[in-house]
Amino acid sequence: MNDEIRLDALYESMRTANDNFLGYPFAKHFDYSRLSRFMTMTGNNLGDPFEKGIYRVDSRDLEREVVEFFAALFRAPSDDYWGYVTNGGTEGNIFGLYLGREIYPEGVAYFSRDTHYSVSKAVRLLNLAYEVVQSDDSGQIDYEDMKLRAQSHAGRPAVVVANIGTTMKEGRDNVGKIRAAFAEIGIDRVYVHSDAALCGPYAPFINPRPTFDFVDGADSITISGHKFIGAPMPCGVVVTRRSHVERITRAIDYIGSHDSTLGGSRSAYAPILLWYAIRSMGIEGLRRSFEQCEALAGYAVRELGERGVRAWRNPSALTVVFPPVRDDVKAKWQLASQDVSHLIVTPGTTKVQLDALITAMTSKG
Ligand SMILES: Cc1ncc(COP(=O)(O)O)c(C=O)c1O
Repeated sequence: MNDEIRLDALYESMRTANDNFLGYPFAKHFDYSRLSRFMTMTGNNLGDPFEKGIYRVDSRDLEREVVEFFAALFRAPSDDYWGYVTNGGTEGNIFGLYLGREIYPEGVAYFSRDTHYSVSKAVRLLNLAYEVVQSDDSGQIDYEDMKLRAQSHAGRPAVVVANIGTTMKEGRDNVGKIRAAFAEIGIDRVYVHSDAALCGPYAPFINPRPTFDFVDGADSITISGHKFIGAPMPCGVVVTRRSHVERITRAIDYIGSHDSTLGGSRSAYAPILLWYAIRSMGIEGLRRSFEQCEALAGYAVRELGERGVRAWRNPSALTVVFPPVRDDVKAKWQLASQDVSHLIVTPGTTKVQLDALITAMTSKG
């Protein structure tokens, strides 16, 4: 096969797979083709997005606007926020826990058993002591179990990951309850990182609003850019307080900037894409997109229920949970399966796709 044919074949296979997945929280069918001209340069946002560097084939102006957008959405203090565009939710989680560990080097990390695997990777990388806490059937952390575990580390600060949408069930922890639980047992040195990989861009529109942002007591929040917003490559945003990040930053002569991000060379394209997306959609577009997805998720629960499948979702969630499905359905629709399976409605998901999956799930294989 010559190379052109291989590329054509790969494109067709990715396109077909893209039309037939409902199991991962990635948006479909966005269009960034107007931005293709940027692909002819080595766009690299070396260094701190809030500083000018020596290398200027960059998009840090737009990156700052992306960070500013999410800082406002997450009610960060307007005079004390900072952030950057990451390679994805995993990097945001590692960064959040890194800040937590630098602030409380003797801290113990707490996170529920429903937490994404990137967090256990982060605590191992950072050599942080940790406790895996029980969770309830909805996927929410068990505050009593968290307190019990913390009591055996009396006097040590806590570095907590709050899930604002767990990977399998979109369960949501409550940052206010987490802080109150530690206060009850006399632990007042607490850093909370909200992992809002999927839900961050729409969490503020959920009614009642999840308790997850800076006003609610978070110290850092991460989202994935390729999940709800959509991007042709993985990316994300992490937002924190400027005062936190000042503890880790170092001046680097070689780049003429501070080294405050986990990656050295960073994509200049991801900020351009995310900027384009938020400028095109705006807050109202994000809200509308969430409402459309939410309505479709409700439809899927009802349709599955009427066909005898025990499907459910957390309030206003886009993740529909059901018992594990047959292997052929799992393979075709790329459904992740653990003790439960799920489908996730994201922008670009259609009723036709949901109907096709529901039919496949409820017909004899
Ligand atoms: C809750 C949660 N956090 C973090 C991540 C990791 O995000 P990424 O794949 O962008 O690194 C995921 C990915 O599915 C997730 O579901």
